[in-house]
Formats: sequence, structure tokens, C-alpha cells
Amino acid sequence: MLELANRRIVLGVTGGIAAYKSAELIRRLSALGAEVRVVMTAAAQEFITPLTLQALSGNPVYTSLLDPAAEAAMGHIELARWGDLLLVAPASADFLARLAHGHGNDLLTTLCLAARCPLAVAPAMNQAMWAAAANQDNVQKLKQRGVHLLGPAEGEQACGDIGPGRMLEPEELARRVSELFPSQRLSGRRVVITAGPTREAIDPVRYISNHSSGKMGFALAAAARDAGAQVTLISGPVHLATPDRVTRVDVVSAREMYEAALARVQQTDIFIATAAVADYRVKNSQTHKIKKQDNKGQPPVLELEENPDIVAAVAASDPHPFTVGFAAETREVEHYARQKIQRKGLDLVVANDVSQSHIGFNSDHNAVTAIWADGETQLAEASKTQIARDLIVLIGEHYQRRQKPNGA
Ligand code: C5P
Repeated sequence: MLELANRRIVLGVTGGIAAYKSAELIRRLSALGAEVRVVMTAAAQEFITPLTLQALSGNPVYTSLLDPAAEAAMGHIELARWGDLLLVAPASADFLARLAHGHGNDLLTTLCLAARCPLAVAPAMNQAMWAAAANQDNVQKLKQRGVHLLGPAEGEQACGDIGPGRMLEPEELARRVSELFPSQRLSGRRVVITAGPTREAIDPVRYISNHSSGKMGFALAAAARDAGAQVTLISGPVHLATPDRVTRVDVVSAREMYEAALARVQQTDIFIATAAVADYRVKNSQTHKIKKQDNKGQPPVLELEENPDIVAAVAASDPHPFTVGFAAETREVEHYARQKIQRKGLDLVVANDVSQSHIGFNSDHNAVTAIWADGETQLAEASKTQIARDLIVLIGEHYQRRQKPNGA
């Protein structure tokens, strides 16, 4: 399993003999799915070259705070924001001291001050330096500040001493790093989500649509990405920013959404339909704007025809992904939701009562019941972000159960 899929790690390398192990560490982190960008201090470059770490990480290595060319490509504040984790390995005694005292006198310490993501350090130094009172004070200070301390290990040191101070081995470090992140339940899975409303043209300037904001689908896309999935979001017209590291496909009408979904169905492991798709489109839509005077005082008559049911078509395809639908109802919510499982061939349906105006459509909150063939569970009112995270855990469990029906 790719425990670090979709994770971005800024790896700081400081000056110490263990710096040569950073090369192997980059390989281990990348093998677990992480994208790594490396920052080296001046002392680190005395032990290993930036070129080596650039080749292994596949990204330029950052070495200087005051480098106009590097700042133009990705500024230090941008780099600090890019990472999901800032890992310093090896972390020398001097670096820990500068970190503990809030220095910003080189690129790496500046990044540590600017980063909003968690910070982890893997100390590496001589055992006497590790035990020194000043170093231990610094380490305590960092721990109290919430910095994750990975190691050091005990054993024989490069200088011949024996004791605590060795950097953890790259394999162990990569495992410990993956444990800092929440579980990657959907690691490597391809998830396609439909979101938002569709627009059905009456003429080039008018359309039929609905109030869907797309918020639930966008929140699910971010939650699925955080669970390690490769996410494609097929979205109708909405005013929402695309979640980072999610592929977005913009569509307007139900038929366009249908085409986009069906084109991907064979490469989809989990399909989640949150879109409020217009049930009907205008059969006699006009290529030119309808003029009042054209109708001799009579209002025009719109003739409607049915749109394809996207989620039902996805569920009916062979092979078909694990398929999740939504059921927005104003009454007899559970009854209609169960009917929808049957009628559309769904694996799971997420039902919400849209008769309550403060949740559901256009709101930042929701309360839902997830229903499947032989069970259900309620998710109490919470932000759509939280509901999305809980739903992704639930969907992941049911998806895995379908893969291994006997719990094998
Ligand atoms: O039938 P109803 O519109 O209530 O079903 C809602 C569910 O079906 C949602 O998951 C919605 O995204 C999906 N749907 C669809 N294509 C349609 C109509 C609804 O995918 N044409």
C-alpha cells in the first residue's frame, strides 16, 4: 500500500555524516508515494551534493534564502505552504539549537518558522553532544512545541563511540513518517465524483438549473484525496476553488456530465454521485435568443425530455465501480432512499432531508444517513468537511468489503 500517496514532504538536510543517508530516505519516501522537495543547509552540502538529491527527488534542491532565481521559481513562503510535513533528517545539534531559539538565518530555519504544517526532526550527532545539557534543553523545548522527534537510535557511531545519537535508518524513518499521517484507506484507488448543478439551455442566454452549490462533492473530493485516492471531480457550474491535487473536469449540461462520467467508468474504482442533475432538458431549445415579440403575445411553451440517469448508467456498466448515490428528499427519506438503491443499482446511498433549510443545499452543514442493502448508519449534523471525512471512511470500508466478501 502507498501509505504516503498524495503527501508532500519538504525534507531538510543539515550538516552531519548521516546526510549521505538522506539519499536513501528520499527513495524510501518516494516509494511510499510521497513527493519530496529537498532543502539543504550549507554544511549539508559538504557531505552530499545537491545534484544527488535533485536526481533522487526529481525536483530542484533549495540551498539559499537569498537566491533570486530560486525565489522566482518557488519562493520560500510558497515552499513552506507546499509541504504537508517538514522533515529535517539528519538534524544536527546546531540546527536543533537554532530551531529551538527561533532563528531564521538560513533557508531551512526560515521555512520552519513559516511552515503551518507539522514539523518532524530526526536528530543525528555524537552521543556526548546528544547528552549535553544544552542540547537536551533544546530538545525538550521542541517537544513541548509539538515538534515530532524521530529517534535518535542507539549504537555504534561514525566517530567510533557507542550510544544514543545515530539517525534512524531510512526505512524506519519512512515508516515513522507515514505513521504521522491519518490512515490512507483509499491509497491508489481511483475515485470519480460528480458535483454541483447542471444547466439545461432554453436558448443561448437562458437555462433551467437548481440551487446546488457543489460544496458536498468538493468536500468529498478533498477527503478522498486525503485518504490517498486519485480523484477526478466532474463539476457543473459552481463558484468553488478546485481542491489541491484533484483533477477537475468542468461540464455544463447533464448530457455533458453523463459523457464525462461514462468515458471514465472503466478506470474508476469508486463513483460518488453528488451532483443535482436536472431530470429534464429542453427538447425545443433555441439556437437564437427567444424574443418576446416573436410569439405574438403568447408565452413560449417549453417541451421537456428526460436526461439520462448518470449514476444508474455507471452502476449498470460492466464491470462497474463501487457506486454511491445521494438522495435529497423532503419526506419519507429512508423509504425513498432504499427504493433508489434498488432502482439505480447502488452499493450505498447517502440520504439527507432537505426540508430542513439550515442544512443540505447551499449550506456549510449537513446531517445524513448512509444506507446500504442490509444496514444503515446516521451521521449527526456537522460541517460538510467533517461529514465528507466520515463518509469517505465508511465508503472505504464498504468498498473493501465488496473486494473481499468473506472478510478475507
Ligand atoms: O433520482 P434522484 O435525482 O433523486 O437521484 C439522486 C441521485 O442520482 C444523486 O446521486 C444524483 O447525483 C444521481 N443522478 C444522476 N443522474 C441523473 C439524476 C440523478 O446521476 N440524471
